[in-house]
Amino acid sequence: MQLSPFIQSLGLKYPIFQGGMAWVADGKLAASVSNAGGLGIIGAGNASGEVVAHEIEVATSLTDRPFGVNVMLLSPHVEEVVKVVLAHKDQIALVTTGAGNPGDYFTQFKAADIKVIPVVGSVALAKMMERVGADAVIAEGMESGGHIGKLTTMALLPQVVDAVNIPVIAAGGIADGRGLAAVLMLGAQGVQMGTRFLVATESKVHPIYKQAVLKAKDASTMVTGDFAGHPSRVLKNQMAKKYVKLEKAEAAKDHPDYSNIEELGNGSLRRAVLDGDAKTGAYMAGEISGLIKKEQPAAEILEEVYNQADKLLSGEH
Ligand SMILES: Cc1cc2nc3c(=O)[nH]c(=O)nc-3n(C[C@H](O)[C@H](O)[C@H](O)COP(=O)(O)O)c2cc1C
Repeated sequence: MQLSPFIQSLGLKYPIFQGGMAWVADGKLAASVSNAGGLGIIGAGNASGEVVAHEIEVATSLTDRPFGVNVMLLSPHVEEVVKVVLAHKDQIALVTTGAGNPGDYFTQFKAADIKVIPVVGSVALAKMMERVGADAVIAEGMESGGHIGKLTTMALLPQVVDAVNIPVIAAGGIADGRGLAAVLMLGAQGVQMGTRFLVATESKVHPIYKQAVLKAKDASTMVTGDFAGHPSRVLKNQMAKKYVKLEKAEAAKDHPDYSNIEELGNGSLRRAVLDGDAKTGAYMAGEISGLIKKEQPAAEILEEVYNQADKLLSGEH
């Protein structure tokens, strides 16, 4: 498989990013992926600047290979996280941004010579990001785990590829070599996988949550937050069902007030990741969960996905 100049410029062996997942993607997971030749990305999520700085130090102590940081733009700590990223610019290969438009932070990252790769869910946002200087975009379909947009990867990706002149990375619903080969055919230069790395051996996700992903079937996920908060793909569990029931009931009222429901969601990913709590925890995961059957070291995942895609692309089946 021929790696694109952009992927080569990042110093990667495989065109595979590990999604910067809040609470999940710590310095250890990111370093494991980077050491094996993919791009590990620390997920800042809602963490404080201090926590993010610690995870960057952990990753730096475990790998000499490039890694990135995902800045979650909805975080209450986003400003301090941006400062931490700027202060560690020599250790960080790139920044991905989730949940919105990086706006003002763009200028700061660019001034510090940090590559910025926003996650986009529409052609309009992809074009806007190109205009303001994004180095690439990650086109993420609504199959993916976590916060989602409205379009599928299959439909969104080729339209983004046609609309911009910067490299496009595909995310959402990709967990094996068939997925990687398919999105390369659609014009992507690489993939970002979240759900498959959620169950990597090096991932700190609670065993109960990991088991739920490994046991999931094609229709095991649902979307919460269509009314209250932000749409999010999670595995069906007690928490998710209760959340959607409450938001639908509220939506039917003349003057809906979602504040109590949103409160219920606060800390729900943390409770899932750290405690495996299905009653109050959000098991964020993508539709592709049903394809993932075992916990494996990150290095094995990368090798398996790459080798399968490589064979398919060279005509072997
Ligand atoms: C548990 C979980 C947490 C996530 N947190 C974030 C986040 O904080 N920021 C972000 O940009 N994307 C986040 N994502 C999305 C992933 O980075 C990735 O783009 C997505 O999982 C790809 O789709 P897949 O799950 O089908 O592989 C999260 C995904 C999961 C499953």
